Amino acid sequence: MAISDLYPEIFLFILTIILLCVWITKRRKQTSVPTEWPLVGMLPGILQNSHRIHAYVTYILSESGGTFDFKFPWYLNMDMLVTCDPANIHHIFSKNFSNYPKGHEFKKIFQVLGDGIFNVDFEMWELHRRMTLSVMSDFRFYGLLERAVWQKVETGLLPVLDYFSKQGTDFDLQDIFQRFTFDSICQLVLDFDSRSLCVELPYVPCEKAFNDVIEALLYRHLLPESIWKLQKWLGIGKEKKLLEAWKAFDEFIYPRIEVVNQKDDDFKLLTAFRKAYEEKNGCLSDSRDFLRDTALNLMFAGRDTTSTCLTWLFWLIATNPSTETKILEEIEKQLHIKQEKKWRNFNVEESRKLVYLHGALCESLRLFPPVALEHKAPIRPDHLPSGNYLQNNTKVIVSFYSMGRMETVWGKDCLEFKPERWISPRGGIKHEPSFKFPAFNVGPRTCLGKEMAFIQMKIVAASIIYRYNIRLVQDHLVSPRDSIILQATNGLRVRLEKRNV
Ligand code: HEM
Repeated sequence: MAISDLYPEIFLFILTIILLCVWITKRRKQTSVPTEWPLVGMLPGILQNSHRIHAYVTYILSESGGTFDFKFPWYLNMDMLVTCDPANIHHIFSKNFSNYPKGHEFKKIFQVLGDGIFNVDFEMWELHRRMTLSVMSDFRFYGLLERAVWQKVETGLLPVLDYFSKQGTDFDLQDIFQRFTFDSICQLVLDFDSRSLCVELPYVPCEKAFNDVIEALLYRHLLPESIWKLQKWLGIGKEKKLLEAWKAFDEFIYPRIEVVNQKDDDFKLLTAFRKAYEEKNGCLSDSRDFLRDTALNLMFAGRDTTSTCLTWLFWLIATNPSTETKILEEIEKQLHIKQEKKWRNFNVEESRKLVYLHGALCESLRLFPPVALEHKAPIRPDHLPSGNYLQNNTKVIVSFYSMGRMETVWGKDCLEFKPERWISPRGGIKHEPSFKFPAFNVGPRTCLGKEMAFIQMKIVAASIIYRYNIRLVQDHLVSPRDSIILQATNGLRVRLEKRNV
Protein backbone atom coordinates (compact mmCIF):
# COMPACT_ATOMS: atom_id res chain seq x y z
CA MET A 1 0.00 0.00 0.00
CA ALA A 2 1.35 3.42 -0.95
CA ILE A 3 1.66 6.07 1.80
CA SER A 4 -0.63 8.35 -0.22
CA ASP A 5 -3.48 5.84 0.30
CA LEU A 6 -3.27 6.67 4.00
CA TYR A 7 -3.60 10.48 3.53
CA PRO A 8 -7.32 10.61 4.50
CA GLU A 9 -6.64 8.63 7.72
CA ILE A 10 -3.60 10.79 8.56
CA PHE A 11 -5.66 13.93 7.95
CA LEU A 12 -8.51 12.67 10.18
CA PHE A 13 -6.05 11.68 12.91
CA ILE A 14 -4.44 15.15 12.96
CA LEU A 15 -7.84 16.84 12.88
CA THR A 16 -8.96 14.76 15.88
CA ILE A 17 -5.83 15.77 17.79
CA ILE A 18 -6.40 19.45 16.97
CA LEU A 19 -10.03 19.27 18.14
CA LEU A 20 -9.00 17.45 21.32
CA CYS A 21 -6.36 20.08 22.06
CA VAL A 22 -8.83 22.92 21.37
CA TRP A 23 -11.27 21.27 23.80
CA ILE A 24 -8.61 20.93 26.51
CA THR A 25 -7.44 24.52 25.90
CA LYS A 26 -11.02 25.78 26.24
CA ARG A 27 -11.41 24.07 29.60
CA ARG A 28 -8.36 25.91 30.86
CA LYS A 29 -8.17 29.68 31.32
CA GLN A 30 -9.95 31.57 28.47
CA THR A 31 -6.79 33.41 27.47
CA SER A 32 -3.42 31.85 28.01
CA VAL A 33 -0.05 31.57 26.33
CA PRO A 34 -0.46 28.68 23.83
CA THR A 35 0.77 25.22 24.76
CA GLU A 36 2.98 23.38 22.29
CA TRP A 37 1.27 20.00 21.67
CA PRO A 38 2.87 16.97 20.06
CA LEU A 39 2.09 16.70 16.33
CA VAL A 40 -0.01 19.89 16.15
CA GLY A 41 2.28 22.43 17.86
CA MET A 42 0.51 25.62 18.98
CA LEU A 43 -2.13 25.37 16.28
CA PRO A 44 -5.07 24.65 18.63
CA GLY A 45 -4.52 27.82 20.72
CA ILE A 46 -4.15 29.90 17.58
CA LEU A 47 -7.23 28.43 15.91
CA GLN A 48 -9.28 28.97 19.05
CA ASN A 49 -8.33 32.68 19.06
CA SER A 50 -8.21 33.28 15.31
CA HIS A 51 -11.32 35.52 15.49
CA ARG A 52 -9.37 38.04 17.65
CA ILE A 53 -5.85 37.42 16.52
CA HIS A 54 -4.44 40.93 17.18
CA ALA A 55 -5.71 41.01 20.78
CA TYR A 56 -4.52 37.45 21.41
CA VAL A 57 -1.00 38.15 20.10
CA THR A 58 -0.89 41.33 22.24
CA TYR A 59 -1.80 39.33 25.33
CA ILE A 60 0.90 36.74 24.62
CA LEU A 61 3.55 39.39 23.94
CA SER A 62 2.79 41.32 27.11
CA GLU A 63 3.05 38.07 29.10
CA SER A 64 6.37 37.13 27.51
CA GLY A 65 8.41 40.34 27.52
CA GLY A 66 7.56 41.45 23.98
CA THR A 67 8.82 38.47 21.93
CA PHE A 68 7.35 35.00 21.42
CA ASP A 69 8.31 31.96 19.32
CA PHE A 70 5.21 30.44 17.70
CA LYS A 71 5.72 26.74 17.02
CA PHE A 72 3.65 25.09 14.33
CA PRO A 73 3.66 21.41 13.34
CA TRP A 74 6.90 20.66 11.45
CA TYR A 75 5.02 19.49 8.35
CA LEU A 76 3.50 22.97 7.87
CA ASN A 77 6.89 24.74 7.91
CA MET A 78 5.34 27.83 9.48
CA ASP A 79 7.29 28.56 12.67
CA MET A 80 7.50 32.29 13.28
CA LEU A 81 8.90 34.73 15.80
CA VAL A 82 6.49 37.48 16.79
CA THR A 83 7.85 40.61 18.41
CA CYS A 84 6.94 44.17 19.44
CA ASP A 85 10.13 44.83 21.40
CA PRO A 86 11.39 48.37 20.47
CA ALA A 87 15.04 47.22 20.56
CA ASN A 88 14.28 44.39 18.10
CA ILE A 89 12.35 46.76 15.86
CA HIS A 90 15.20 49.27 15.81
CA HIS A 91 17.61 46.44 14.99
CA ILE A 92 15.53 44.86 12.21
CA PHE A 93 14.31 48.01 10.47
CA SER A 94 17.28 50.34 10.89
CA LYS A 95 20.57 49.01 12.29
CA ASN A 96 20.60 45.77 10.29
CA PHE A 97 18.26 46.94 7.50
CA SER A 98 20.23 45.30 4.66
CA ASN A 99 19.75 41.86 6.26
CA TYR A 100 15.94 42.17 6.25
CA PRO A 101 14.68 42.77 2.72
CA LYS A 102 11.03 42.08 2.04
CA GLY A 103 12.19 38.95 0.25
CA HIS A 104 10.65 36.39 -2.11
CA GLU A 105 7.92 35.25 0.23
CA PHE A 106 6.62 38.81 0.69
CA LYS A 107 6.63 39.27 -3.08
CA LYS A 108 4.65 36.07 -3.58
CA ILE A 109 2.08 37.12 -0.98
CA PHE A 110 1.72 40.66 -2.37
CA GLN A 111 1.93 39.58 -6.04
CA VAL A 112 -1.08 41.73 -6.95
CA LEU A 113 1.03 44.86 -6.31
CA GLY A 114 3.43 43.87 -9.11
CA ASP A 115 6.82 45.59 -9.06
CA GLY A 116 5.59 48.68 -7.20
CA ILE A 117 7.46 50.34 -4.32
CA PHE A 118 5.90 48.14 -1.59
CA ASN A 119 6.96 44.94 -3.24
CA VAL A 120 10.56 45.39 -4.34
CA ASP A 121 13.98 45.42 -2.68
CA PHE A 122 17.49 46.71 -3.27
CA GLU A 123 18.17 48.71 -6.51
CA MET A 124 14.60 48.52 -7.75
CA TRP A 125 13.29 49.84 -4.42
CA GLU A 126 15.91 52.63 -4.37
CA LEU A 127 14.84 53.65 -7.85
CA HIS A 128 11.14 53.74 -6.90
CA ARG A 129 11.88 55.60 -3.69
CA ARG A 130 13.97 58.25 -5.48
CA MET A 131 11.32 58.73 -8.15
CA THR A 132 8.45 58.93 -5.65
CA LEU A 133 10.37 61.32 -3.41
CA SER A 134 11.22 63.60 -6.30
CA VAL A 135 7.58 63.70 -7.50
CA MET A 136 6.20 64.23 -3.98
CA SER A 137 8.71 66.94 -3.10
CA ASP A 138 7.94 68.97 -6.23
CA PHE A 139 6.77 72.40 -5.05
CA ARG A 140 3.48 71.93 -6.94
CA PHE A 141 2.60 68.67 -5.18
CA TYR A 142 1.05 70.14 -2.02
CA GLY A 143 -0.97 72.64 -4.06
CA LEU A 144 -2.39 69.73 -6.07
CA LEU A 145 -3.11 67.80 -2.87
CA GLU A 146 -4.83 70.75 -1.17
CA ARG A 147 -7.09 71.34 -4.19
CA ALA A 148 -7.97 67.63 -4.58
CA VAL A 149 -8.86 67.20 -0.90
CA TRP A 150 -10.92 70.38 -0.48
CA GLN A 151 -12.76 69.71 -3.71
CA LYS A 152 -13.76 66.25 -2.48
CA VAL A 153 -14.81 67.65 0.90
CA GLU A 154 -17.07 70.21 -0.78
CA THR A 155 -18.51 68.15 -3.60
CA GLY A 156 -18.60 64.71 -1.97
CA LEU A 157 -18.18 64.50 1.79
CA LEU A 158 -20.32 67.42 3.02
CA PRO A 159 -23.29 66.85 0.66
CA VAL A 160 -23.42 63.18 1.71
CA LEU A 161 -23.17 63.96 5.44
CA ASP A 162 -25.80 66.70 5.05
CA TYR A 163 -28.12 64.21 3.39
CA PHE A 164 -27.78 61.66 6.23
CA SER A 165 -28.14 64.30 8.92
CA LYS A 166 -31.36 65.64 7.31
CA GLN A 167 -32.74 62.12 6.92
CA GLY A 168 -31.85 61.35 10.54
CA THR A 169 -30.75 57.85 9.50
CA ASP A 170 -27.66 56.04 10.65
CA PHE A 171 -24.90 55.08 8.21
CA ASP A 172 -21.42 53.55 8.04
CA LEU A 173 -18.83 56.31 8.49
CA GLN A 174 -15.98 53.94 7.62
CA ASP A 175 -17.52 53.33 4.19
CA ILE A 176 -17.78 57.10 3.68
CA PHE A 177 -14.11 57.57 4.59
CA GLN A 178 -13.03 54.75 2.26
CA ARG A 179 -14.94 56.34 -0.62
CA PHE A 180 -13.49 59.73 0.25
CA THR A 181 -9.86 58.54 0.30
CA PHE A 182 -10.38 56.43 -2.82
CA ASP A 183 -11.77 59.38 -4.80
CA SER A 184 -9.05 61.74 -3.51
CA ILE A 185 -6.16 59.38 -4.27
CA CYS A 186 -7.59 58.65 -7.75
CA GLN A 187 -7.83 62.36 -8.42
CA LEU A 188 -4.29 62.91 -7.22
CA VAL A 189 -2.64 59.92 -8.89
CA LEU A 190 -4.79 59.26 -11.98
CA ASP A 191 -6.20 62.78 -12.44
CA PHE A 192 -9.64 61.15 -12.53
CA ASP A 193 -12.68 61.66 -10.28
CA SER A 194 -14.22 58.22 -9.70
CA ARG A 195 -17.24 59.78 -7.86
CA SER A 196 -17.72 56.84 -5.52
CA LEU A 197 -18.67 59.33 -2.79
CA CYS A 198 -22.12 60.70 -3.59
CA VAL A 199 -25.56 60.34 -2.01
CA GLU A 200 -26.41 57.17 -4.00
CA LEU A 201 -23.26 55.42 -2.65
CA PRO A 202 -22.73 53.59 -5.97
CA TYR A 203 -20.92 50.27 -6.21
CA VAL A 204 -17.50 50.94 -7.77
CA PRO A 205 -15.75 47.55 -8.20
CA CYS A 206 -12.19 48.90 -7.91
CA GLU A 207 -13.04 50.79 -4.70
CA LYS A 208 -14.48 47.72 -2.98
CA ALA A 209 -11.74 45.45 -4.37
CA PHE A 210 -9.28 46.83 -1.81
CA ASN A 211 -11.28 45.29 1.06
CA ASP A 212 -11.16 41.82 -0.52
CA VAL A 213 -7.45 42.10 -1.18
CA ILE A 214 -6.35 43.01 2.34
CA GLU A 215 -8.34 40.15 3.86
CA ALA A 216 -6.91 37.61 1.43
CA LEU A 217 -3.39 38.91 2.13
CA LEU A 218 -3.67 38.27 5.88
CA TYR A 219 -4.74 34.67 5.16
CA ARG A 220 -1.72 34.27 2.89
CA HIS A 221 0.44 35.29 5.90
CA LEU A 222 -1.25 32.74 8.15
CA LEU A 223 -1.91 29.74 5.89
CA PRO A 224 0.76 27.38 4.56
CA GLU A 225 1.71 28.43 1.02
CA SER A 226 0.57 25.08 -0.40
CA ILE A 227 -2.99 25.67 0.90
CA TRP A 228 -3.48 29.18 -0.49
CA LYS A 229 -1.86 28.13 -3.77
CA LEU A 230 -4.31 25.23 -4.01
CA GLN A 231 -7.21 27.61 -3.33
CA LYS A 232 -5.88 29.94 -6.02
CA TRP A 233 -5.59 27.09 -8.49
CA LEU A 234 -9.13 25.91 -7.70
CA GLY A 235 -10.39 29.53 -7.75
CA ILE A 236 -12.15 29.29 -4.39
CA GLY A 237 -12.47 31.21 -1.08
CA LYS A 238 -10.41 34.33 -0.42
CA GLU A 239 -8.19 33.54 -3.41
CA LYS A 240 -11.18 33.79 -5.75
CA LYS A 241 -11.95 37.24 -4.37
CA LEU A 242 -8.31 38.23 -4.76
CA LEU A 243 -8.35 37.25 -8.45
CA GLU A 244 -11.55 39.22 -9.02
CA ALA A 245 -10.05 42.24 -7.24
CA TRP A 246 -6.93 41.99 -9.39
CA LYS A 247 -9.10 42.11 -12.52
CA ALA A 248 -11.02 45.12 -11.15
CA PHE A 249 -7.75 47.01 -10.50
CA ASP A 250 -6.43 46.36 -14.01
CA GLU A 251 -9.71 47.29 -15.69
CA PHE A 252 -9.77 50.54 -13.73
CA ILE A 253 -6.14 51.61 -14.00
CA TYR A 254 -4.95 50.63 -17.52
CA PRO A 255 -7.47 52.83 -19.42
CA ARG A 256 -6.42 55.85 -17.29
CA ILE A 257 -2.78 55.18 -18.18
CA GLU A 258 -3.53 55.21 -21.90
CA VAL A 259 -4.49 58.88 -21.64
CA VAL A 260 -1.38 60.05 -19.80
CA ASN A 261 -0.11 62.87 -21.94
CA GLN A 262 3.62 63.60 -21.96
CA LYS A 263 3.11 67.09 -23.34
CA ASP A 264 0.75 68.16 -20.59
CA ASP A 265 2.11 71.36 -19.02
CA ASP A 266 0.15 71.03 -15.76
CA PHE A 267 1.80 69.12 -12.94
CA LYS A 268 0.27 65.61 -12.88
CA LEU A 269 1.54 62.66 -10.94
CA LEU A 270 1.45 59.93 -13.61
CA THR A 271 2.93 62.26 -16.22
CA ALA A 272 5.78 63.02 -13.81
CA PHE A 273 6.34 59.28 -13.17
CA ARG A 274 6.28 58.53 -16.88
CA LYS A 275 8.89 61.23 -17.56
CA ALA A 276 11.11 59.82 -14.79
CA TYR A 277 10.72 56.27 -16.19
CA GLU A 278 11.54 57.32 -19.75
CA GLU A 279 14.57 59.31 -18.61
CA LYS A 280 15.93 56.07 -17.20
CA ASN A 281 14.79 53.56 -19.82
CA GLY A 282 14.58 55.59 -23.01
CA CYS A 283 11.42 57.04 -24.50
CA LEU A 284 10.66 54.00 -26.66
CA SER A 285 10.27 51.63 -23.71
CA ASP A 286 6.74 50.58 -22.73
CA SER A 287 5.92 52.20 -19.38
CA ARG A 288 2.37 50.85 -19.00
CA ASP A 289 3.08 48.06 -16.48
CA PHE A 290 5.39 50.35 -14.52
CA LEU A 291 2.68 53.02 -14.34
CA ARG A 292 -0.01 50.45 -13.42
CA ASP A 293 2.13 49.15 -10.53
CA THR A 294 3.12 52.65 -9.40
CA ALA A 295 -0.48 53.88 -9.44
CA LEU A 296 -1.86 50.79 -7.67
CA ASN A 297 0.81 50.96 -4.95
CA LEU A 298 0.04 54.64 -4.29
CA MET A 299 -3.71 53.95 -4.26
CA PHE A 300 -3.12 51.06 -1.86
CA ALA A 301 -0.98 53.35 0.32
CA GLY A 302 -3.44 56.21 0.26
CA ARG A 303 -6.90 54.65 0.51
CA ASP A 304 -6.98 52.28 3.43
CA THR A 305 -4.44 53.79 5.78
CA THR A 306 -5.98 57.25 6.06
CA SER A 307 -9.59 56.02 6.04
CA THR A 308 -8.80 53.51 8.81
CA CYS A 309 -7.08 56.12 10.97
CA LEU A 310 -10.06 58.49 10.55
CA THR A 311 -12.52 55.73 11.43
CA TRP A 312 -10.78 54.94 14.72
CA LEU A 313 -10.28 58.64 15.46
CA PHE A 314 -14.05 59.20 15.31
CA TRP A 315 -14.75 56.11 17.38
CA LEU A 316 -12.24 57.25 20.02
CA ILE A 317 -13.66 60.80 20.05
CA ALA A 318 -17.24 59.52 20.33
CA THR A 319 -16.29 57.35 23.28
CA ASN A 320 -14.28 60.19 24.91
CA PRO A 321 -16.55 63.26 24.43
CA SER A 322 -14.30 65.70 26.36
CA THR A 323 -11.69 65.38 23.60
CA GLU A 324 -14.28 66.42 21.00
CA THR A 325 -14.86 69.71 22.87
CA LYS A 326 -11.12 70.39 22.99
CA ILE A 327 -10.70 69.75 19.26
CA LEU A 328 -13.61 72.04 18.47
CA GLU A 329 -12.20 74.83 20.67
CA GLU A 330 -8.83 74.49 18.97
CA ILE A 331 -10.36 74.68 15.47
CA GLU A 332 -12.34 77.81 16.35
CA LYS A 333 -9.37 79.51 18.00
CA GLN A 334 -6.54 78.62 15.62
CA LEU A 335 -8.50 79.19 12.43
CA HIS A 336 -10.05 82.45 13.79
CA ILE A 337 -13.53 81.10 13.15
CA LYS A 338 -15.01 82.46 16.38
CA GLN A 339 -14.19 86.10 15.57
CA GLU A 340 -15.29 85.83 11.95
CA LYS A 341 -18.29 83.62 12.89
CA LYS A 342 -17.85 81.78 9.62
CA TRP A 343 -16.13 78.58 8.50
CA ARG A 344 -13.28 78.93 6.03
CA ASN A 345 -11.06 76.36 4.33
CA PHE A 346 -7.52 76.36 5.67
CA ASN A 347 -4.17 75.74 3.98
CA VAL A 348 -1.27 73.39 4.71
CA GLU A 349 0.54 75.96 6.88
CA GLU A 350 -2.56 76.63 9.00
CA SER A 351 -3.18 72.89 9.45
CA ARG A 352 0.07 72.73 11.45
CA LYS A 353 -1.48 74.92 14.16
CA LEU A 354 -4.00 72.17 15.01
CA VAL A 355 -1.73 70.56 17.60
CA TYR A 356 -4.38 68.90 19.77
CA LEU A 357 -6.03 67.36 16.70
CA HIS A 358 -2.58 66.15 15.64
CA GLY A 359 -2.17 64.50 19.06
CA ALA A 360 -5.59 62.86 18.70
CA LEU A 361 -4.59 61.44 15.30
CA CYS A 362 -1.34 60.11 16.79
CA GLU A 363 -3.35 58.40 19.54
CA SER A 364 -5.57 56.80 16.93
CA LEU A 365 -2.46 55.59 15.09
CA ARG A 366 -0.87 54.30 18.30
CA LEU A 367 -3.90 52.31 19.45
CA PHE A 368 -5.09 51.26 15.98
CA PRO A 369 -2.13 51.44 13.55
CA PRO A 370 -3.71 50.98 10.09
CA VAL A 371 -0.81 48.73 9.04
CA ALA A 372 -1.09 46.38 11.99
CA LEU A 373 1.92 44.18 11.30
CA GLU A 374 5.05 43.85 9.19
CA HIS A 375 6.57 40.66 7.88
CA LYS A 376 10.37 40.24 7.74
CA ALA A 377 12.91 37.46 7.13
CA PRO A 378 16.72 37.71 7.58
CA ILE A 379 18.89 36.67 4.64
CA ARG A 380 21.76 35.77 7.03
CA PRO A 381 21.40 34.28 10.54
CA ASP A 382 21.07 36.98 13.18
CA HIS A 383 20.88 37.57 16.94
CA LEU A 384 18.16 39.94 18.09
CA PRO A 385 18.70 42.30 21.06
CA SER A 386 16.02 40.27 22.93
CA GLY A 387 18.42 37.30 22.83
CA ASN A 388 16.50 35.32 20.19
CA TYR A 389 18.54 33.62 17.49
CA LEU A 390 17.18 33.69 13.93
CA GLN A 391 18.26 31.28 11.24
CA ASN A 392 18.20 32.66 7.72
CA ASN A 393 14.66 32.92 6.33
CA THR A 394 13.00 32.65 9.74
CA LYS A 395 9.66 34.36 9.48
CA VAL A 396 9.48 37.39 11.78
CA ILE A 397 6.17 39.13 12.37
CA VAL A 398 6.47 42.58 13.91
CA SER A 399 3.20 43.60 15.56
CA PHE A 400 2.70 47.38 15.44
CA TYR A 401 -0.73 46.86 17.02
CA SER A 402 0.78 45.24 20.12
CA MET A 403 3.53 47.86 20.38
CA GLY A 404 1.03 50.66 21.09
CA ARG A 405 -0.54 48.62 23.89
CA MET A 406 2.56 47.66 25.88
CA GLU A 407 2.63 49.00 29.42
CA THR A 408 6.43 48.73 29.39
CA VAL A 409 6.58 51.13 26.43
CA TRP A 410 3.65 53.54 26.95
CA GLY A 411 3.03 53.32 30.69
CA LYS A 412 0.11 52.18 32.85
CA ASP A 413 -2.39 54.32 30.94
CA CYS A 414 -1.36 52.79 27.58
CA LEU A 415 -4.93 51.74 26.74
CA GLU A 416 -6.37 55.23 27.31
CA PHE A 417 -7.00 57.74 24.53
CA LYS A 418 -5.00 60.80 25.61
CA PRO A 419 -4.09 63.34 22.90
CA GLU A 420 -2.26 65.29 25.66
CA ARG A 421 0.37 62.53 25.62
CA TRP A 422 1.66 64.04 22.37
CA ILE A 423 1.89 67.66 23.46
CA SER A 424 5.27 68.92 24.65
CA PRO A 425 5.60 71.32 27.62
CA ARG A 426 6.19 74.14 25.07
CA GLY A 427 2.88 73.40 23.35
CA GLY A 428 4.17 71.75 20.15
CA ILE A 429 4.05 68.09 19.14
CA LYS A 430 6.27 65.78 21.16
CA HIS A 431 8.55 63.63 19.02
CA GLU A 432 8.55 59.89 19.69
CA PRO A 433 11.14 57.66 17.98
CA SER A 434 9.64 55.50 15.24
CA PHE A 435 10.78 52.24 16.88
CA LYS A 436 8.39 53.18 19.71
CA PHE A 437 5.71 54.62 17.41
CA PRO A 438 6.04 52.59 14.20
CA ALA A 439 2.67 53.40 12.57
CA PHE A 440 4.47 54.96 9.58
CA ASN A 441 7.13 52.25 9.54
CA VAL A 442 10.72 52.52 10.78
CA GLY A 443 14.10 53.16 9.13
CA PRO A 444 14.88 53.68 5.43
CA ARG A 445 11.45 52.40 4.32
CA THR A 446 9.54 54.98 6.33
CA CYS A 447 6.24 56.04 4.80
CA LEU A 448 6.56 58.72 2.12
CA GLY A 449 3.00 59.93 2.60
CA LYS A 450 3.10 60.80 6.31
CA GLU A 451 2.94 64.57 5.85
CA MET A 452 0.31 64.25 3.16
CA ALA A 453 -1.81 61.91 5.32
CA PHE A 454 -1.82 64.34 8.29
CA ILE A 455 -2.92 67.23 6.07
CA GLN A 456 -5.72 65.20 4.52
CA MET A 457 -6.92 63.77 7.84
CA LYS A 458 -6.90 67.19 9.54
CA ILE A 459 -8.96 68.74 6.72
CA VAL A 460 -11.54 65.93 6.94
CA ALA A 461 -11.69 65.73 10.74
CA ALA A 462 -11.93 69.52 11.24
CA SER A 463 -14.60 69.89 8.53
CA ILE A 464 -16.77 67.24 10.21
CA ILE A 465 -16.20 68.11 13.87
CA TYR A 466 -16.95 71.80 13.25
CA ARG A 467 -20.33 70.96 11.66
CA TYR A 468 -21.63 67.84 13.41
CA ASN A 469 -22.02 65.98 16.67
CA ILE A 470 -21.29 62.36 15.91
CA ARG A 471 -23.22 59.75 17.91
CA LEU A 472 -22.48 56.03 17.81
CA VAL A 473 -25.40 53.73 17.11
CA GLN A 474 -26.08 51.78 20.30
CA ASP A 475 -25.34 48.04 20.38
CA HIS A 476 -23.27 48.25 17.23
CA LEU A 477 -20.17 46.24 18.08
CA VAL A 478 -16.92 47.85 16.91
CA SER A 479 -13.76 45.76 16.85
CA PRO A 480 -10.60 45.54 14.71
CA ARG A 481 -10.91 43.34 11.66
CA ASP A 482 -8.60 40.36 11.09
CA SER A 483 -6.78 41.78 8.15
CA ILE A 484 -3.39 43.36 7.50
CA ILE A 485 -5.14 46.74 7.52
CA LEU A 486 -6.86 47.34 10.82
CA GLN A 487 -10.30 48.40 9.62
CA ALA A 488 -13.32 48.22 11.94
CA THR A 489 -15.26 44.97 11.50
CA ASN A 490 -18.80 45.77 10.35
CA GLY A 491 -17.80 49.42 9.88
CA LEU A 492 -18.63 52.34 12.17
CA ARG A 493 -22.36 53.06 12.34
CA VAL A 494 -23.14 56.63 13.42
CA ARG A 495 -25.87 59.26 13.45
CA LEU A 496 -25.22 62.97 12.88
CA GLU A 497 -26.67 66.07 14.54
CA LYS A 498 -25.85 69.40 12.96
CA ARG A 499 -24.12 71.90 15.26
CA ASN A 500 -22.73 74.70 13.00
CA VAL A 501 -23.82 75.76 9.53
C1 HEM B 1 -2.39 57.27 8.14
C2 HEM B 1 -1.87 57.10 6.96
C3 HEM B 1 -0.69 56.24 6.61
C4 HEM B 1 -0.06 55.27 7.35
C5 HEM B 1 -0.38 54.81 8.77
C6 HEM B 1 1.00 54.73 6.54
C7 HEM B 1 1.87 53.72 6.93
C8 HEM B 1 2.85 53.18 6.13
C9 HEM B 1 3.65 52.02 6.46
C10 HEM B 1 3.53 51.20 7.75
C11 HEM B 1 4.50 51.80 5.43
C12 HEM B 1 5.50 50.64 5.29
C13 HEM B 1 4.83 49.54 4.50
C14 HEM B 1 5.74 48.43 4.11
O1 HEM B 1 6.92 48.64 3.83
O2 HEM B 1 5.29 47.27 4.07
C15 HEM B 1 4.26 52.82 4.45
C16 HEM B 1 4.96 52.93 3.29
C17 HEM B 1 4.65 53.82 2.30
N1 HEM B 1 3.64 54.77 2.33
FE1 HEM B 1 2.40 55.16 3.86
N2 HEM B 1 1.00 55.36 5.32
C18 HEM B 1 -0.03 56.28 5.32
C19 HEM B 1 -0.42 57.11 4.28
C20 HEM B 1 0.23 57.18 3.08
C21 HEM B 1 -0.18 58.02 1.98
C22 HEM B 1 -1.40 58.94 1.98
C23 HEM B 1 0.72 57.82 0.98
C24 HEM B 1 0.75 58.46 -0.36
C25 HEM B 1 0.03 58.09 -1.34
C26 HEM B 1 1.70 56.85 1.45
C27 HEM B 1 2.76 56.41 0.73
C28 HEM B 1 3.64 55.42 1.13
C29 HEM B 1 4.70 54.88 0.29
C30 HEM B 1 5.04 55.32 -1.12
C31 HEM B 1 5.34 53.88 1.04
C32 HEM B 1 6.51 52.98 0.60
C33 HEM B 1 7.81 53.43 1.23
C34 HEM B 1 8.97 52.51 0.89
O3 HEM B 1 8.82 51.29 0.83
O4 HEM B 1 10.05 53.05 0.71
N3 HEM B 1 1.37 56.49 2.72
N4 HEM B 1 3.25 53.65 4.90
